[in-house]
Amino acid sequence: MSSQTPAPEPPSATGVECVQLQAVIPESALLRLEPLLWMLSPNGIEVADPMCLHGVDVGQGGVRVTWYVAPSEAAQAAATVQAAAAQLGVSTDVSAQDVHGQDWNRVWKQFYAPLVVGDRVRVEPAWMQGPEIEGMIRIAIDPGMAFGTGTHETTQLCMQQVVAWVDAAQARGAVLADQAMLDLGTGSAILAILAVKMGFGRAIGTEIDAAALGSARANLALNAVQDRVDLRHGGDPALAGPQQYPLVVANILATVLVPLRDAIVARIQPAGTVVLSGILTRQAESVAAHYAQRGLQVVRMTSAGDWAAVVLHQPS
Ligand SMILES: C[S@@+](CC[C@H](N)C(=O)[O-])C[C@H]1O[C@@H](n2cnc3c(N)ncnc32)[C@H](O)[C@@H]1O
Repeated sequence: MSSQTPAPEPPSATGVECVQLQAVIPESALLRLEPLLWMLSPNGIEVADPMCLHGVDVGQGGVRVTWYVAPSEAAQAAATVQAAAAQLGVSTDVSAQDVHGQDWNRVWKQFYAPLVVGDRVRVEPAWMQGPEIEGMIRIAIDPGMAFGTGTHETTQLCMQQVVAWVDAAQARGAVLADQAMLDLGTGSAILAILAVKMGFGRAIGTEIDAAALGSARANLALNAVQDRVDLRHGGDPALAGPQQYPLVVANILATVLVPLRDAIVARIQPAGTVVLSGILTRQAESVAAHYAQRGLQVVRMTSAGDWAAVVLHQPS
């Protein structure tokens, strides 16, 4: 994933400033920090690949990473990356530079185009919605400050599994209109929106980040599903209530999925399915084994780039 997605080039526009953050991160720590950087900058990060410099100034002993954030996010984003690097035993300076005369909204808007996931789902930037296409589920997304535009591998892996699960359930004759799915770490709410557009009567989305929840709410309205998706603020899966769900999706980091295992498993109904992502491919086996210790069976693992999804079945 690194270096394939360039950070958005600030366009020549006037308006609100944005802030360019840069850090030189030791290669040994980059893989561990990349998921965090993507969380902080769902619009894209630029990783100067040391194998492919192209004139980019790469600091000694590290790889230069660049990303853009809204001014109100800059201090927190820099501190978060420094604290995470320190936990890995490396010291990383994060430099911040105001980008004057740039409109943050335009910075990320120019970064998106409609995206087809599988052959069934088209994710459209809110400002670029196309005509109805027969057989295609359309999801409008205004990412705001939330992760979940559809461009990230983990989102796509989860979307594919939601589509596959619903197809299989409907082929068995299951009626989903009176069932709910659970989307832990909902971000933009893209997976919850997909689930209800595919036939679930309701979805519950949990999210720790209040700013992301604001974006999620806007996306529910954009897709006219605000009455069918409940958003809940917090990090405990128990927020989804005492009931259990036939389909639980948790696209969060492995470092969160592992300690939350028991709370997540408690929300899966007998014979239900959980899709876990936000997992690096090299972590997939150990995350799967951790969940298998609770009696879940691994149905499949899929991957794209450096990222994996693990699908597990809760026995009846
Ligand atoms: C990788 S993003 C996934 C967003 C979206 N579901 C998607 O698939 O694109 C993970 C999201 O989980 C949120 N998050 C992290 N820990 C969480 C927790 N314990 N409970 C709920 N949300 C959490 C983050 O703030 C972030 O928005």
